[in-house]
Amino acid sequence: MNVLGIETSCDETAAAVVADGWKVLSNCIYSQVASHRPYGGVVPEIASRQHVEILPGILREAIGQSGLGWDDLDAFAVTRGPGLASSLLVGLSAAQSLALRQRRPLIPVNHVEAHLYSLFLPEPPAAAPPPAPPLPMLVLMVSGGHTALVRFEGLGRYRWLGQSLDDAAGEALDKGANLMGLGYPGGPAIEQAAAGGDPEAISFSRTSIRASPRTGDLDPDLCFSFSGLKTALLYLLRRQPELLGPDRLRHLAASFQEAVFNTLLHRAEQAMEKDAYASFGCVGGVLRNRRLRARIEEAARRRRLPLRMAPPSFCTDNAAMVAGLAGATGGPAPADPAAVEIRPDLRLSA
Ligand code: KG4
Ligand code: ZN
Repeated sequence: MNVLGIETSCDETAAAVVADGWKVLSNCIYSQVASHRPYGGVVPEIASRQHVEILPGILREAIGQSGLGWDDLDAFAVTRGPGLASSLLVGLSAAQSLALRQRRPLIPVNHVEAHLYSLFLPEPPAAAPPPAPPLPMLVLMVSGGHTALVRFEGLGRYRWLGQSLDDAAGEALDKGANLMGLGYPGGPAIEQAAAGGDPEAISFSRTSIRASPRTGDLDPDLCFSFSGLKTALLYLLRRQPELLGPDRLRHLAASFQEAVFNTLLHRAEQAMEKDAYASFGCVGGVLRNRRLRARIEEAARRRRLPLRMAPPSFCTDNAAMVAGLAGATGGPAPADPAAVEIRPDLRLSA
């Protein structure tokens, strides 16, 4: 089954062709980061306008690189949410036109579930899909928009254990980088600035979380909060602006980054203590960070859990995870592609 997937939920314009749910024949991504950089964050109007301009070329590229023709495609898949409404609409209308023109089904995909599926994509070129991980798996999701712990019992069988009550981990890094004058996007900028820095030079205290209306039904021990950390950095820099000096910035960047990662690992380990898991997984844009990958590896080793991490090229937003998920589940696709609607606030459901 050959699926062409489209992803336009935020500021990456992406299309990919994936065969049989795992064989990535093409994975084309245009990052709009240069257009949003002057504003220090994603500007929805700019994002949707750029999707309109860029997507046709990206679609041609995805088909061209796949070696297939339009008639070889068995289905189309598109991210329907969660994400920015105006951005999601661009991807959806393109996918609808293609599905109607080619008389093929259109499979709507949940972006968060697609990130989880990135665990099942092998780094190309690969001759076979990665072996199935032992289940249930505890998955830590760390992206720009979502930070969460999920109990993964199989495709379509998830339990949402906890999430960030304020900023996502990627957002915390983006805001911290902004305070340190490191540019946008902050995650890669901090990683670069932290090279050679001492992650223990400055200690940031961990935010504790109590049950409240914001935690709702979720276990507060498995929820995250990063806004206090950002405020701590702000006040620290007001008191000691010299920390931004040439010899000291790398220590500050390394310590701030480590504080974000300490929170992630601490919560993941609490989840492992509270319940039994057969494996540990991690997905999302922040997992491109080499220090985080090393910390995750160390935690899995300590807990003696088999580990699965999304390959770096499938960590940040991409359409291979969208086409892959659609190919693996085969749907459900509504009879009429025109009936698919965007769902900007879509949640992960079991
Ligand atoms: O998964 P993603 O592409 O977008 C969402 O679905 O939200 O993640 C984007 C996030 C950004 O916040 C970015 O700063 C972060 O991933 N990121 C990184 C690195 N590369 C991207 N964070 C830390 N280290 C990196 N190398
Ligand atoms: Zn994403």
